[in-house]
Amino acid sequence: MLVRFDAATRHLSLDPRDPAFYHDPYASYAAVLAQSPVAYWAELGCWCFFGYDEVNRLLRDRRFGREILHVATREELGLPAPRPHTRHFDEVDAHSMLEREPPVHTRLRALVSRAFVSRRVDALRSIIEDMAHELVDAFPRAPFDLLTHYATPIPVRTIARLLGVPQAMTPQLLAWSHDMVAMYGVGRTYDIETRADTAAAEFSQYIRELVAERRATPGDDLLSVLIAAEEQGDTLSEAELVSTAILLLNAGHEATVHALGNAVNAVLRHGVHMQVFVDDDAALARLVEESLRFVPPLHLFKRYVLADTEESGIALRKGEQIALVLGATGRDPRLHDRPEQFLPERMPAQHTSFGAGIHFCVGAPLARLELQCALRVLFRRCPRLTLAGTPHPKDSWHFHGLDALFVEV
Ligand code: HEM
Repeated sequence: MLVRFDAATRHLSLDPRDPAFYHDPYASYAAVLAQSPVAYWAELGCWCFFGYDEVNRLLRDRRFGREILHVATREELGLPAPRPHTRHFDEVDAHSMLEREPPVHTRLRALVSRAFVSRRVDALRSIIEDMAHELVDAFPRAPFDLLTHYATPIPVRTIARLLGVPQAMTPQLLAWSHDMVAMYGVGRTYDIETRADTAAAEFSQYIRELVAERRATPGDDLLSVLIAAEEQGDTLSEAELVSTAILLLNAGHEATVHALGNAVNAVLRHGVHMQVFVDDDAALARLVEESLRFVPPLHLFKRYVLADTEESGIALRKGEQIALVLGATGRDPRLHDRPEQFLPERMPAQHTSFGAGIHFCVGAPLARLELQCALRVLFRRCPRLTLAGTPHPKDSWHFHGLDALFVEV
């Protein structure tokens, strides 16, 4: 029995490092949701929210935030002092909008949103489609890993293109990004921390050099737009510019790779008729939303409690963390009929896979566009696409995806 739940105390015992859990976390989520939308997860040491209504509401609730040091000191909270071996990583994090709250978050987010206007995103449609066609042209004849040959290159090349980072840098971006996002998993080690720190130092240095180049010769890219904002006044410091570029490059591909791999896997495993989506944009959009509901790539985000408060009958203390289990909300039986079934025609397939509230994914329109373009081209060009072997889930829970997805075309 993976899940042990005590209804009287709402205490949950479930090992997040158990492969039986992270290979199929949905069975455990369903078991918890059948009892309660809220539980104290002993192994995580915090209250966790699994229900759609709860997660959707708390993500918007200003009593909780991603930043805590603006309302309390490290000493008051009993937090460890900053560690020298992660100082480059911490420096990038410290200026990242994802880690900040208003007013800093509002300022950074406004700049990025302005640069992320739908005109700029829409202009990428034909670029993404051309890229997808080129990748399909190069598919091997023998069974091959669709993640390596398709799902990984599309998001990183797209975000590099948007930001104005040379395409030749994409393998290096992937390596830095993998090392940095490993910090957000369960079971962080000293080795993971030092690798992430080295990646953060090298990545920052690279972005600083690129900024210097673009300053001299601006282009029609997001980095040049951000540099212009920095030069027009004190709206964006150089440290913030570097962190923003790194955040966009990392966030811009990690989740999208797995969202695409998970979606293709769901379609193939459930024998869904692919050709329906080739010429029907509305059906394709519904398929993307149902995939994001059914197999979301990001499962958990935390928030600090900013002042003593009460929520769902729980007394929460300032500085304590709560966890919002985004991966569970689409499976909430209070929201959907037959939540355990993959139904591409489901409407609406509600989920919190892009978050909600002030940190709602700024890249959601781009992610949706990438997923729709990549799936349409794949289904059109490869009508006989089938699984070649059983896909193996990644050894991770927060980033929920596959290690490899072997297919034949
Ligand atoms: C399917 C793909 C994606 C998923 C599932 C996803 C999911 C998320 C989620 C859940 C958050 C909120 C985290 C929180 O509330 O703590 C977020 C934030 C963010 N995402 Fe995405 N994302 C995806 C793709 C992208 C892309 C393509 C980009 C960039 C182009 C991007 C950039 C960002 C940024 C910059 C933030 C921080 C926003 C803020 O703090 O205001 N994401 N994403």
